Amino acid sequence: MSNCPSRTCNPKAGSNPIPGNPQSFSTKDWIDRQVNSEIHEAMKDLMLDNNTLKKISTLFLQNIERGLKKDTHPTSIVKCYPTYVQDLPDGTEKGKFLALDLGGTNFRVLMVNIDSDKCEMESEIFSMSNELITGSGYDLFDYIAECLAIFSKKRGVAEQNLPLGFTFSFPASQKGLSKAIVVRWTKGFDCKDILGLDVGELLTNAVNKRGDLKIDVCAILNDTTGTLMSCAFKNRDTRIGMIVGTGNNACYIEKQANAELFDEPDMGSGDVVINLECGAFGDDGALDFIRTELDRVIDKEYPNQGRQLHEKMISGMYLGELARRYILKFAQQGLILGGKTSPIFETQDSFPTSNLSEIEKDQPGSFKLQRDILHQLGLEHATDVDCINIRFISQCLTRRAAHLASTALVTLIHKMGVKKVTVGIDGSLYKYHPHFRTLMIAKMNELIDPGYTYELMLSEDGSGIGAALVAAVAAKKKRQLGIS
Ligand code: BGC
Repeated sequence: MSNCPSRTCNPKAGSNPIPGNPQSFSTKDWIDRQVNSEIHEAMKDLMLDNNTLKKISTLFLQNIERGLKKDTHPTSIVKCYPTYVQDLPDGTEKGKFLALDLGGTNFRVLMVNIDSDKCEMESEIFSMSNELITGSGYDLFDYIAECLAIFSKKRGVAEQNLPLGFTFSFPASQKGLSKAIVVRWTKGFDCKDILGLDVGELLTNAVNKRGDLKIDVCAILNDTTGTLMSCAFKNRDTRIGMIVGTGNNACYIEKQANAELFDEPDMGSGDVVINLECGAFGDDGALDFIRTELDRVIDKEYPNQGRQLHEKMISGMYLGELARRYILKFAQQGLILGGKTSPIFETQDSFPTSNLSEIEKDQPGSFKLQRDILHQLGLEHATDVDCINIRFISQCLTRRAAHLASTALVTLIHKMGVKKVTVGIDGSLYKYHPHFRTLMIAKMNELIDPGYTYELMLSEDGSGIGAALVAAVAAKKKRQLGIS
């Protein structure tokens, strides 16, 4: 297996001091030798070689085909929802738009001013309690309308009936650009009473009930679509959008002829953006051959048991907890930390995914950031060798996540058959992990067929600007076609 730290011999953890003579041993050699052999062996399950990744790619492609076709769509796992977005921005979009962004860590309201190739925006973050995101959906939408009213009044636009794009980053079956039916909740949200209802209507009703706000809901979109659109605004080769953050998902541009569920007339491009909802890939057991014992444990302990299995191996909502479980297991086996952890560390969710980014930011041989984290968790007794092993665990998990995300992207690039593709990408894990992007590029280069080139482009606020752009492109098209 490439890219995972190699181990050249198997001393017992903690047995060797750092060698004083740099000529006889490099620091890297020394570090590699300190990874406990039993831990190394146990983590092998997470090291997916290229043959395995190619097998996953083939399965993924089969899943996409099933999602796109009318007769297999109802039972398909990767849903491939047509988004009704047919056109990319071309730089002639103009106007003032409101945007909502629901589905990450925060809820945001934005006002975006688009003027030819420039976008200016202002935004406010509103907090959301756990009760709100797991209670009644009607209360959630009342709260969204209230935040929107506060935001709009402050800026004097509450009565202007501004066009609004809503980035709703959950599985939703789109029936039109501004009609999206809530199919399932993910990422810890769970407002059961509005499953099956239309997001556009729920928002409009909540706003109208207030009587102090006028808006025109023009578009409901997924964050992957927003990401694609915001990158396409700057780079016309953008054909894929991906999020590697709290959740994971991707969208891409498909020919309308292949998107059998798409039931609107072709407005000229012949294309439509498909929201894959590929977080669900594997929910039929297709990925069971790579899932580990602890993947199964995590699945049981988080909402949506048996669902979002691909996402559960990739995204920020789960990776930290997976790392904590591995560290705990090895400590309980007496392989690290002298067999001792702490009550805080033994608590679920005490080890957020941002810890993995911090741990891997330390230079090899230095454990400064890691020690700060361990200290806060009551694990100050960790030796340097423990730190090496903990970093190794973190690296194995982030590599697996990066390699699975890369495999999905390469599959899409091959499927589209377009030789030069820009991928718009966003999300906290991708953005803040020091090596995630490099790992993805290295793996994509290994997997991609000759003749294809690609670029990974970080999206600048795809969920906000992208929502405004979807609304703007739709408004422009309507004007061009003389539809009111
Ligand atoms: C949701 C997707 C979303 C992704 C990234 C997943 O849990 O199902 O709709 O795009 O998270 O936010």
